[in-house]
Amino acid sequence: MTRKKIEKEYYKKIKKLTKLNKFYYEKNNPIVDDKEYDILKKSILKLESEHSYLKSENSPSVIVGFKPSKNFRKVPHRVPMLSLANAFDQNDLNNFEKKIMNYLNQKNRLEIEYSAEPKIDGISASLSYKDGNFITGLSRGDGREGEDITENLKTINDIPQKISSKDFPEDIEIRGEIFIQNNDFKKLTGKFANPRNAASGSLRQKNPLETKKIPLKFIAYTFGYEKGLKINKQSEFLKKLKEWGFKTNPLNKTIKSVKNLMKNYHEVENRRGSLDFDIDGIVYKINDFQLQKRLGNIANAPRWAIAHKFSANNGISKIENIEIQVGRTGALTPVAKIRPINIGGVVVSNATLHNEEEIIRKDIRVGDTVLIERAGDVIPHVISVDLKQRNNKSKKFVFPISCPSCGSKTIKEYNSITKKEDAVRRCTSEGFECEKIAIEKIKHFVSKEAFNIDGFGKKIVENFWKLNLIRLPQDIFKLDFTVIENLDGWGKQSVSNLKYSINIKKTIPFEKFIFALGIRHIGLENAKLISKNLISIKNFLLLSKTKKFNDLINIDGIGETQINSIRNFFSNNINLKMLKELNELLDIKDAVLSKSNGLFTNKTFMITGKLEGISRAEAKSVIEENSGSIISNVSKKLDYLIIGEKPTKRKIDLAKDFKVKILSQDEWLNMLNKTS
Ligand code: IVH
Repeated sequence: MTRKKIEKEYYKKIKKLTKLNKFYYEKNNPIVDDKEYDILKKSILKLESEHSYLKSENSPSVIVGFKPSKNFRKVPHRVPMLSLANAFDQNDLNNFEKKIMNYLNQKNRLEIEYSAEPKIDGISASLSYKDGNFITGLSRGDGREGEDITENLKTINDIPQKISSKDFPEDIEIRGEIFIQNNDFKKLTGKFANPRNAASGSLRQKNPLETKKIPLKFIAYTFGYEKGLKINKQSEFLKKLKEWGFKTNPLNKTIKSVKNLMKNYHEVENRRGSLDFDIDGIVYKINDFQLQKRLGNIANAPRWAIAHKFSANNGISKIENIEIQVGRTGALTPVAKIRPINIGGVVVSNATLHNEEEIIRKDIRVGDTVLIERAGDVIPHVISVDLKQRNNKSKKFVFPISCPSCGSKTIKEYNSITKKEDAVRRCTSEGFECEKIAIEKIKHFVSKEAFNIDGFGKKIVENFWKLNLIRLPQDIFKLDFTVIENLDGWGKQSVSNLKYSINIKKTIPFEKFIFALGIRHIGLENAKLISKNLISIKNFLLLSKTKKFNDLINIDGIGETQINSIRNFFSNNINLKMLKELNELLDIKDAVLSKSNGLFTNKTFMITGKLEGISRAEAKSVIEENSGSIISNVSKKLDYLIIGEKPTKRKIDLAKDFKVKILSQDEWLNMLNKTS
């Protein structure tokens, strides 16, 4: 890459990080998770280390945190509030120790003692005490200057206002972490994304009375400026803090050797889920203040300390209960209700256990200590059970044999394709007879890809169900709006909006209608195929009279599984009544077909390279208008490969192997001209 390109990439990343910082620190509303943030930060630091010309005042190597917000008076810290370098594994710790040995010119001769302190994931604050009186309290801000949040800090019980111990220094900045306990956070319904944001948000309230409402805690761990501190070791300082009336972390320890740091790390990580507060790693500090002084700082972090971070996508917690959810298709899904834990900035309190088999295979029980993973968009799930921590009175989880919602029998279906019993247990009720299934079916009916009724979300479905306003999809089009207008949280305007969004969806394409019915195995694609084949709702309704379900087998893509499912659907009287009523209430538009007997009927195409004078999208629609279709892989199913400028050689070679016809753009256009 050229220097120009590298610079461009670097400043793009800096710009993004600055934006993320703004959301995180100023608005207390992060827009990405911690992991993504860390990756971005690391990539900037990596670029800087590879290219010495890259510099920015907004680089994470220069700034600590983010500039203080404008709401509070800015005050410089008498001693800057530093950041910590991160370690992720034993290797990082060995390197950390090695560098220290080198710096001190010790060649491993010294046995270093560390103060190991679980790192609370909160907001740091610096408290100035003069002659034992709490004078000013600052947030970290950008590390050089913080915000004066004294009045808000004064509302926190853990912060002593006056300290009269004789050995308390005459002038000192006590530093530590402000945080909110997980159980208190749970009570603050929905206002903040996670406990850290809750702490940050409440500390920045303009009105201290608002801060006072939130049960914030303070744990002290270090000092900034000091005059009159007569102590030599961090562990002694932590002891003194306690004597002076501060809270300290009960899991603080002094430890020698990297091996023992690792042992402690695993022990603390295992206890993480049962702690009352979130920790995201362990801070190791060289215990001896004199050595700390000799080592000093590099840029914005001390050489004598490091934060050993826990993984950002998993965590350990305890299963408090196992609930069985019933889905739209009757599937019973076990869900573990776990003690809430913070994984990568998101509080997780539910983890899917997938199905009965998974519970048996992993022998997951209520009361178990489990490793939970939350990565990307995947639903949090249990990775493993820590059997060592299992209570000897614990019992195997018994999966219900009847549906917890309607009491019907449940079964595991036999899958004729895999020739195996399904892993999923299902309620055998026909659908709307089972309350949970019915609610899920209605949610599906109004969902985005089905009727897409604006403002009619999952919560409203549940609410209207509870109020007995809906039992079946057709009830949506028969709602009594005068009743809704008198409900809590509804007014004239919102009712009129709802009425409007329901009314405009009374006209609906046939394919969407089929999909909305939520027939098992009939997803969007299959609904499209059926609609193209049957054209109208009239023909669809005829199926129930003629019972010619097997004719559907002629539709390419529809198989026995789908046909059985449709047959099942039509064998249920509630479904038949629903179809009849919906047909009366709605205007279901016939399927519109593109030329079904066009020039390219049953022919598949693929394009590689750039075409001249026509875009890919246009070429695709030309092919489709002529009843052809585009596929995305070269295989024996491909009939024609159209080659434009700079085609992919591999695709051409593959096409030759499969004996696919290769066309130039002109040859392809000529094919078209033959008809016109
Ligand atoms: S010492 C000079 N000790 O971690 C070292 N920090 O990434 C910096 N933190 O800003 C402070 N627990 O918010 C220290 N026992 C502990 C800590 C701790 C949590 C936070 C603190 C700091 C950040 C550094």
